[in-house]
Amino acid sequence: MCGIVGYCGPKPATEVLLEGLKRLEYRGYDSAGVCVGDGETFQTYKRRGKVRDLREIIPEEVGGFYGIGHTRWATHGGVNDQNAHPHSDDQNNLVVVHNGIIENYQALKNKLISDGHTFKSETDTEVIAQLIAVMYKGNLEQAVREAVYLLKGTYGLAVVHRDEPGKIVGARNGSPLVIGVGEGEMFLASDVMAMMAHTKSAIYMEDGELVSMTKDSYKMFDINDQHIEKQVEHIHWELEQLEKNGYTTFMEKEIHEQGQSIQRALQGRIDFDGATGHLGGLNLTAKELLNIERVEIVAAGTSYYAGMVGAFLLERMARIPAHAELASEVRYKNPIVQPSTLYFVVSQSGETADTLYAMRELQRKGATVLGVCNVVGSTIPRESDGGVYIHSGPEIAVASTKAFTSQISVFYLFTLLMARMRHYSFEEGYTFISELNRIPALVEQTMQRAEHIREVARRYAHHENFLFLGRGLLYPVALEGALKLKEISYIHAEGYSAAEIKHGPIALINEHTPSVFLVPDGGLREKVINSMKEVQAREGKVIAVAVDGDDEIAEIADEVLWVPKTHELLSPFLMVLPLQLFAFEVALELKRDVDQPRNLAKSVTVE
Ligand code: M6R
Repeated sequence: MCGIVGYCGPKPATEVLLEGLKRLEYRGYDSAGVCVGDGETFQTYKRRGKVRDLREIIPEEVGGFYGIGHTRWATHGGVNDQNAHPHSDDQNNLVVVHNGIIENYQALKNKLISDGHTFKSETDTEVIAQLIAVMYKGNLEQAVREAVYLLKGTYGLAVVHRDEPGKIVGARNGSPLVIGVGEGEMFLASDVMAMMAHTKSAIYMEDGELVSMTKDSYKMFDINDQHIEKQVEHIHWELEQLEKNGYTTFMEKEIHEQGQSIQRALQGRIDFDGATGHLGGLNLTAKELLNIERVEIVAAGTSYYAGMVGAFLLERMARIPAHAELASEVRYKNPIVQPSTLYFVVSQSGETADTLYAMRELQRKGATVLGVCNVVGSTIPRESDGGVYIHSGPEIAVASTKAFTSQISVFYLFTLLMARMRHYSFEEGYTFISELNRIPALVEQTMQRAEHIREVARRYAHHENFLFLGRGLLYPVALEGALKLKEISYIHAEGYSAAEIKHGPIALINEHTPSVFLVPDGGLREKVINSMKEVQAREGKVIAVAVDGDDEIAEIADEVLWVPKTHELLSPFLMVLPLQLFAFEVALELKRDVDQPRNLAKSVTVE
């Protein structure tokens, strides 16, 4: 979604801002803009389209020593040049970039219009600019404080004023902002990636906090002008992790990285001596863990499907009732919180609004909520009652891939821990954890088969509808496969339980609708084969994802994408890989923008 970057310092501000905006492109956006000041005046350039389009309209000589920039993902008002950020007041004295949604903007706008102000855009952000200008009496910090007092909704803001050159004022409520502390330069951004090329020292702002910065200093304060002291934290990601490193897209790179990213998720958390999982950040004693009677997992999108895998495992292996629920539904259903229930919220970005708001509602009701997140310092891990980082490294492609396998890694470890505390013997635990430890190597083996998956994907890329079918633990994997295909190729794909197709979706089957079946290595295998035959009886083509050596499947299916053999309960790790690669290759064949698919944003920070 929208991205903010601000800069004060000796480097040419335009370049720093454009480079920062490029780093934020992965979040998804439809227009971009910057405002750059040189001490005499400031200039704003903005337009619909990509950062490269914006660069074209900025004269070479525009350098400046401070400024703010923005990538917009439209919420209020269409995608056009006028609605792109930055926005100014009607005297063009101050300029604002904003992430978030102002809920009372219409009432504020009506009042401003009745006071004689005129508006150039349809955005809620222009209201903020006008409001701060009305409050401005020679002190930008004070004007921003007074203006945000009147705002209802969410904002991450960066503001500059013509009369205070070299200064940026920022404010946060519900939309992330990070301060970057450099040597003789300062940054303000919605995401550390925008500043990592320049500094690894960051201060994560909390809701209700404001900052005022120049190139040499910054001060933080709250809405009542009380001074705030915060710790500077180190950003652990490396700049090279933000590069494609020889791959043509981030998605391909991230798919292929999974052997390593799963390894990082497991590292230091496999306890062979105890034949169990070890998760340091849970903040729960053994006794508290033993008293858990139920687990609820709350998340959105791919993280929700990882949560479904987690819930299935907890019931199956640890015999603890568990359930995954969509974050967007939890908040408004007045959830029943019981003391013996443990909650997990799962989020790659740690900023997804639906998930964050669900977590806050659960906490208000007294729940203990643990986070399973990737982005260190993001809001969910900071506000949760404990949790586990998945250590995937930056996930830049909009379509989530490596986060999924790292999220489930955490649930495997947690499930084993819970199972061992209950009925799992040392031997059972040891066997399981030994096989879990082999998963990174098996993932690497599966990746060697990418070429075959490419061939199959190319042959099927021109179909308009797909079904993805799995059962048990592979049902959420089927849902994830369908999500991957639809979001990056724009092909209609539905994920279903293979058993469920006879209750309706089988009506869709004909020679033009292929079905991708996930075939387990035991358990419900025969049942899945039955469903496959039902599809074939209706002339539907079958692409099977099956375990090496399953000769019967080779005879039945039209195509087989093979994965190595592992413990049946660990199959999601390997079965999801061909689905990710299949979606990727189909999208490539259709010449889609794989990393930044249309209409999507990486981190969905609005409800
Ligand atoms: O950052 P989160 O894990 O909270 O994001 C949740 C979803 O928005 C995300 O998984 C989304 O569905 C992806 N585009 C899936 O590829």
